[in-house]
Amino acid sequence: MKLFLDTANIDEIKALKDTGFVDGVTTNPSLIAKSGHDLMDTIAEICELVSGPVSAEVTATDADTMLKEGLKLAAIADNVAVKVPLTEAGLMTCKTLSDQGTMVNVTLCFSAAQALLAAKAGAKFISPFVGRLDDIGSDGMTLIEEIVTIYANYDMPTEVLVASVRGVQHVVDAAMMGADVATVPPQVISAMFKHPLTDKGLAAFLTDWEKTGQSIL
Ligand code: E4P
Repeated sequence: MKLFLDTANIDEIKALKDTGFVDGVTTNPSLIAKSGHDLMDTIAEICELVSGPVSAEVTATDADTMLKEGLKLAAIADNVAVKVPLTEAGLMTCKTLSDQGTMVNVTLCFSAAQALLAAKAGAKFISPFVGRLDDIGSDGMTLIEEIVTIYANYDMPTEVLVASVRGVQHVVDAAMMGADVATVPPQVISAMFKHPLTDKGLAAFLTDWEKTGQSIL
């Protein structure tokens, strides 16, 4: 499973990009606003830092303007994935951009029916928001299971990109279900490193090593 970083913060991306597990980046208008920086400049900088897909979201709501915005975003770099919302206008834009060879990430997906339509519109990625479904008492991961099954039934090439990830268990569940990608906030990546037995084991090894009086270098 690929891991994308869910942030528009350049420092966070720089800190993790050399680990080897950053396969792409996702942004959205809220993350751009939080970064306090210009959208076009930020996407260009991220695309230089990371070679995998970098999602940049349109903000228009009608198909004509969405397409113009999408073309402008796609022109920033070859690895831009244009993000469109799961609306009728968004899916029309998805079809046009995908037919032209541009990667499209269809976002704000909350049902399997929506995911089926996005795949038929040629989306490269579908982004179901698991955390926001959990927030309203639904089960976000059940939606992932449904979409993975439907796409597999028909060999649909659209990649399931698990979004709105809130914790490590979402990432593990996504991998167990065979999702293609999880986009993960940096704080959840940090939590993925951690296990109390790792810390305890390392402390014991270092204490025992010190007793030997040896040094490797
Ligand atoms: C990423 O593509 C999504 O926009 C993001 O994961 C949404 O996360 P949130 O629900 O925590 O805002």
